[in-house]
Order: sequence, then C-alpha cells, then structure tokens
Amino acid sequence: MDTNGADTKISNPCLPEKPELSPTLISDTELLSEFSHHVQNKARINNGSFGCRPNSVLSAQQKWQLEFLKQSDDFYFNGLKDGILKSRLVIKDLVNADHVDEISIVDNATTATAIVLQSVAWEFLQGKFNKGDAAVTLQYATGAVKKSLEAYIMRADGNVIEVQKVRLAMIDHVTSIPSVLIPVKELIKVCREDGVDKVFVDGAHGIGCVDVDMKEMAADFYTSTLNKWFFCPPVAAILYFRKSSEVNDLHHPVVSHEYGNGFPIESAWIGTRDYSAQLVVPQALEFVNRFEGGIEGIKKRNHKAVGEMG
Ligand SMILES: Cc1ncc(COP(=O)(O)O)c(C=O)c1O
Repeated sequence: MDTNGADTKISNPCLPEKPELSPTLISDTELLSEFSHHVQNKARINNGSFGCRPNSVLSAQQKWQLEFLKQSDDFYFNGLKDGILKSRLVIKDLVNADHVDEISIVDNATTATAIVLQSVAWEFLQGKFNKGDAAVTLQYATGAVKKSLEAYIMRADGNVIEVQKVRLAMIDHVTSIPSVLIPVKELIKVCREDGVDKVFVDGAHGIGCVDVDMKEMAADFYTSTLNKWFFCPPVAAILYFRKSSEVNDLHHPVVSHEYGNGFPIESAWIGTRDYSAQLVVPQALEFVNRFEGGIEGIKKRNHKAVGEMG
C-alpha cells in the first residue's frame, strides 16, 4: 500500500463513478438555475477574489456534510481519505503531474504558501542555508505572500531582497493587481540556470483560468485555488510538489495524527473540520464538462469576453 493512499480502493456512495464530458451541453436556463443563489441583476465582475460555485456542486457538498454528521466515525474511517484521493486524482490529470503523490489538497493559497515557506525557514534554522541567503519574489506579489516571506524567511535570518545565494524564488502565475500573466516557464528556466534552489509558483488564479502543466513548467511547488476559477466552494486549493525535487520535510503547519505519513495524507486530516469543499472536485469537473470544450472552452470564452469588454 502506498503511504499516500494512492493504492486505496475507492468506493463511496458520494463519489460519481467517472466524471466525463456530458453528452448534453448546459442550456442557458440550466446555467441560470445553477447560479440562482446569486444576487440577480447585479453583474459579478470580480470573480478573481472568491470565485463562484454552481448549485450542483453545492448540493454535492451538502451530501458530504451530511455524511459526516450522519455517522462521523464511518466518514472518518471509510469516506474521507477515499474522497480526498478522488479529488487529488482529478487534479493530477488536470495539471499533468507525474504522480498523485505530488498533489495535496489544502485550504487556500495562503496556507500553501505557509507550508512551503515553513519548510524553507526550517532549512535556515537547521543551518542548511546561511544567514543572509535569499528568497526573491516579484514586486507585484500579493500582500499575503509578502507578509509570509517576512514572517517565515526574515524571522529565520533569511534575506528577502538583497540577493546573495537565492534559495527560493516565488513567482506569480497570474498577478492579482494588476492582473498579468507571467511567463513562468521561461523565468523558471532562468532560475535553474542561476542555481536557485527552489521555485514556488503562486498560481492562486491558475486552474480554470490559464494553462497549468506541471511537466512543462517544472516548478518545485505550485499552488492553485479551486474556488476561484474551478467552481469549488471555499475552502479548497491544491499544493503540488515535484517528487523529483529536493523537497525536504514538507509538513502541514497544523500537526495532527497523520504527521509523518506523507504530506498529502497529513493535509487530508488537520483535525475536526468541514472537508466537504475539498471532496467535491469531481463534481466541479462534471460541471465544467457540461460546457462546450470543458475547461479549455471556458478559458477560451472568458479570454474572448475579457478582450471584448476591454
Ligand atoms: C496572486 C494571489 N496569490 C494568493 C492569493 C491568496 O489566495 P487565498 O485567499 O486563496 O489564500 C490571492 C488572492 O486573491 C492572489 O490573488
């Protein structure tokens, strides 16, 4: 049995057998009814902050919530791990990762950042990195990321601006303000040539918004929310880490029973909480597959609509 549960047999009544492209595309009426809970007659222009999620995904989420409340022990021992694994498998294919063990589900991009920066801070504190070695980031990195660099790297005596030996490069995939698509693949190549130890891409706006291909990008870490552009309820995000990279000791900052059992399993149980948003990734995929061209079609149409609005 794989330590990260990848060999676990999945059987759960809440899980759809195999999400596939729907033969019937979503109609305009169905689309309106999927979002009937939105305030009517008010355009939602800012999807980037919090995203949106359709009724079909919300009702799948509610089923998971009831599963937990109906028989909590049965849910914990027999449902949760399989459900999270199913979500990880969907994401593994979406981002073209080598192995499902490279995909973990976490709460949000901020948590993913804390996890990666904590592991780098430990390398400073354990003397693997020298005082003054640096982490670099884009000027447009979001405030939460800059604060995290301050909290983890600077407090561990790392340098965030003046570059000596760069241990970590943090690169946005799509910056939030202003909103710019960064050529991450090319920047990562430059980082590798310059001997940067690790590259972490903040793709908070990645999955569902732009192309995300882990094999092509070759980052060490990548985070994307699933609630911004992939129709999952909050709170759901992924943290990818490349198996072949020197990722030492990645741990969730909230330590619970699964500590030491591999990061994807650690992060699938961080104490009693509502995991339902992280369990409906298959239903979110089913929803996007009701649109012509699935996720690719949605991205293309969004791109065109933004061009027209501009
Ligand atoms: C580029 C970027 N990174 C990180 C975040 C933080 O995301 P979250 O609220 O899911 O932690 C955001 C939020 O909008 C963002 O735009």
